[in-house]
Amino acid sequence: MRIAIGSDHAGFSLKEELKEFLIKKGYQVKDVGAFSDDSVDYPEFSEKVAVLVSQKKADRGIVICGTGIGVSIVANKVPGVRAALCQNVFTARYSRRHNDSNVLALGARVVELTQAKKIIITWLTTSFEGGRHERRVKQIKKIEDKYLKC
Ligand code: RB5
Repeated sequence: MRIAIGSDHAGFSLKEELKEFLIKKGYQVKDVGAFSDDSVDYPEFSEKVAVLVSQKKADRGIVICGTGIGVSIVANKVPGVRAALCQNVFTARYSRRHNDSNVLALGARVVELTQAKKIIITWLTTSFEGGRHERRVKQIKKIEDKYLKC
Protein backbone atom coordinates (compact mmCIF):
# COMPACT_ATOMS: atom_id res chain seq x y z
CA MET A 1 0.00 0.00 0.00
CA ARG A 2 1.25 3.47 -0.94
CA ILE A 3 0.88 6.03 1.82
CA ALA A 4 1.46 9.77 1.45
CA ILE A 5 2.37 11.55 4.68
CA GLY A 6 2.79 15.23 5.47
CA SER A 7 2.88 17.59 8.42
CA ASP A 8 3.65 21.12 9.50
CA HIS A 9 6.36 21.97 12.04
CA ALA A 10 4.12 20.93 14.95
CA GLY A 11 3.67 17.48 13.45
CA PHE A 12 7.20 17.07 12.11
CA SER A 13 8.67 14.96 14.88
CA LEU A 14 5.61 12.63 15.05
CA LYS A 15 5.67 12.33 11.25
CA GLU A 16 9.30 11.22 11.31
CA GLU A 17 8.56 8.53 13.94
CA LEU A 18 5.47 7.31 12.10
CA LYS A 19 7.23 7.25 8.74
CA GLU A 20 9.91 4.97 10.20
CA PHE A 21 7.24 2.78 11.80
CA LEU A 22 5.31 2.42 8.53
CA ILE A 23 8.40 1.65 6.44
CA LYS A 24 9.37 -1.08 8.94
CA LYS A 25 5.87 -2.54 8.57
CA GLY A 26 6.42 -2.76 4.79
CA TYR A 27 4.32 0.19 3.62
CA GLN A 28 5.53 2.36 0.73
CA VAL A 29 5.74 5.89 2.14
CA LYS A 30 5.90 9.18 0.23
CA ASP A 31 6.87 12.08 2.50
CA VAL A 32 5.79 15.49 1.17
CA GLY A 33 7.34 17.45 4.07
CA ALA A 34 7.77 19.45 6.16
CA PHE A 35 11.37 18.42 6.48
CA SER A 36 12.27 20.25 9.70
CA ASP A 37 10.54 21.75 12.70
CA ASP A 38 11.01 25.30 11.39
CA SER A 39 7.67 27.08 11.39
CA VAL A 40 5.63 26.52 8.22
CA ASP A 41 1.95 26.74 7.24
CA TYR A 42 -0.01 23.48 7.38
CA PRO A 43 -2.27 24.04 4.30
CA GLU A 44 0.58 23.43 1.84
CA PHE A 45 1.47 20.00 3.21
CA SER A 46 -2.05 18.78 3.75
CA GLU A 47 -3.00 19.81 0.22
CA LYS A 48 -0.02 17.88 -1.22
CA VAL A 49 -1.05 14.68 0.56
CA ALA A 50 -4.73 15.11 -0.32
CA VAL A 51 -3.96 15.67 -4.02
CA LEU A 52 -1.86 12.48 -4.17
CA VAL A 53 -4.80 10.54 -2.73
CA SER A 54 -7.34 12.30 -4.95
CA GLN A 55 -5.26 11.55 -8.06
CA LYS A 56 -4.80 7.94 -6.90
CA LYS A 57 -1.02 8.36 -6.78
CA ALA A 58 -1.31 7.25 -3.14
CA ASP A 59 -3.78 4.73 -1.70
CA ARG A 60 -4.09 6.57 1.61
CA GLY A 61 -2.85 9.78 3.21
CA ILE A 62 -1.80 10.79 6.71
CA VAL A 63 -1.71 14.48 7.65
CA ILE A 64 -0.43 15.85 10.94
CA CYS A 65 -0.46 19.27 12.60
CA GLY A 66 -0.68 20.39 16.21
CA THR A 67 -4.36 19.57 16.70
CA GLY A 68 -5.07 17.72 13.44
CA ILE A 69 -7.89 20.20 12.82
CA GLY A 70 -6.19 22.50 10.30
CA VAL A 71 -4.88 19.65 8.15
CA SER A 72 -8.23 17.86 8.19
CA ILE A 73 -10.08 21.00 7.07
CA VAL A 74 -7.63 21.46 4.18
CA ALA A 75 -7.64 17.81 3.06
CA ASN A 76 -11.44 17.76 2.95
CA LYS A 77 -11.40 20.61 0.39
CA VAL A 78 -9.84 18.31 -2.19
CA PRO A 79 -12.39 16.36 -4.27
CA GLY A 80 -12.55 12.66 -3.50
CA VAL A 81 -10.90 13.03 -0.12
CA ARG A 82 -12.64 11.90 3.04
CA ALA A 83 -10.32 12.99 5.82
CA ALA A 84 -11.02 11.83 9.36
CA LEU A 85 -9.52 13.46 12.43
CA CYS A 86 -9.04 10.58 14.85
CA GLN A 87 -7.93 10.84 18.45
CA ASN A 88 -8.44 7.22 19.40
CA VAL A 89 -8.68 3.69 18.00
CA PHE A 90 -12.50 3.68 18.07
CA THR A 91 -12.87 6.69 15.77
CA ALA A 92 -10.09 5.40 13.50
CA ARG A 93 -11.90 2.05 13.15
CA TYR A 94 -15.29 3.61 12.45
CA SER A 95 -13.91 6.22 10.06
CA ARG A 96 -12.94 3.24 7.91
CA ARG A 97 -15.94 0.98 8.54
CA HIS A 98 -18.60 3.63 8.07
CA ASN A 99 -17.00 6.57 6.20
CA ASP A 100 -14.39 4.85 4.02
CA SER A 101 -11.93 7.57 5.09
CA ASN A 102 -8.93 7.78 2.81
CA VAL A 103 -6.96 10.40 4.75
CA LEU A 104 -6.19 10.21 8.46
CA ALA A 105 -5.59 13.46 10.35
CA LEU A 106 -3.66 13.38 13.60
CA GLY A 107 -2.88 16.02 16.19
CA ALA A 108 0.70 15.75 17.38
CA ARG A 109 -0.16 17.83 20.45
CA VAL A 110 -3.12 15.58 21.19
CA VAL A 111 -1.96 11.98 20.75
CA GLU A 112 1.37 10.58 21.85
CA LEU A 113 3.45 8.18 19.73
CA THR A 114 2.19 4.84 21.10
CA GLN A 115 -1.43 5.92 20.70
CA ALA A 116 -0.74 7.31 17.20
CA LYS A 117 0.76 3.95 16.13
CA LYS A 118 -2.32 2.08 17.40
CA ILE A 119 -4.61 4.53 15.58
CA ILE A 120 -2.67 4.17 12.33
CA ILE A 121 -2.53 0.38 12.34
CA THR A 122 -6.24 0.15 13.09
CA TRP A 123 -6.99 2.68 10.36
CA LEU A 124 -4.82 0.90 7.77
CA THR A 125 -6.16 -2.58 8.47
CA THR A 126 -9.89 -1.90 8.86
CA SER A 127 -12.12 -2.39 5.81
CA PHE A 128 -15.08 -0.32 4.68
CA GLU A 129 -18.34 -2.11 5.49
CA GLY A 130 -20.22 -0.95 2.40
CA GLY A 131 -23.97 -1.63 2.40
CA ARG A 132 -25.93 1.31 3.83
CA HIS A 133 -22.66 3.15 4.36
CA GLU A 134 -21.93 2.95 0.64
CA ARG A 135 -25.15 4.85 0.02
CA ARG A 136 -24.10 7.57 2.48
CA VAL A 137 -20.60 7.89 1.01
CA LYS A 138 -22.21 8.28 -2.43
CA GLN A 139 -24.33 11.08 -0.98
CA ILE A 140 -21.15 12.83 0.19
CA LYS A 141 -19.79 12.59 -3.36
CA LYS A 142 -23.03 14.00 -4.76
CA ILE A 143 -22.83 17.03 -2.45
CA GLU A 144 -19.18 17.52 -3.41
CA ASP A 145 -20.06 17.36 -7.14
CA LYS A 146 -22.94 19.81 -6.67
CA TYR A 147 -20.67 22.51 -5.22
CA LEU A 148 -17.84 21.82 -7.67
CA LYS A 149 -20.23 22.99 -10.40
CA CYS A 150 -20.86 26.35 -8.65
C1 RB5 B 1 0.63 25.53 14.58
O1 RB5 B 1 0.99 26.22 15.72
C2 RB5 B 1 -0.81 25.00 14.72
O2 RB5 B 1 -1.71 26.06 14.62
C3 RB5 B 1 -1.08 23.96 13.68
O3 RB5 B 1 -0.17 22.93 13.81
C4 RB5 B 1 -2.45 23.28 13.74
O4 RB5 B 1 -2.72 22.81 15.02
C5 RB5 B 1 -3.56 23.99 13.13
O5 RB5 B 1 -4.69 23.48 13.06
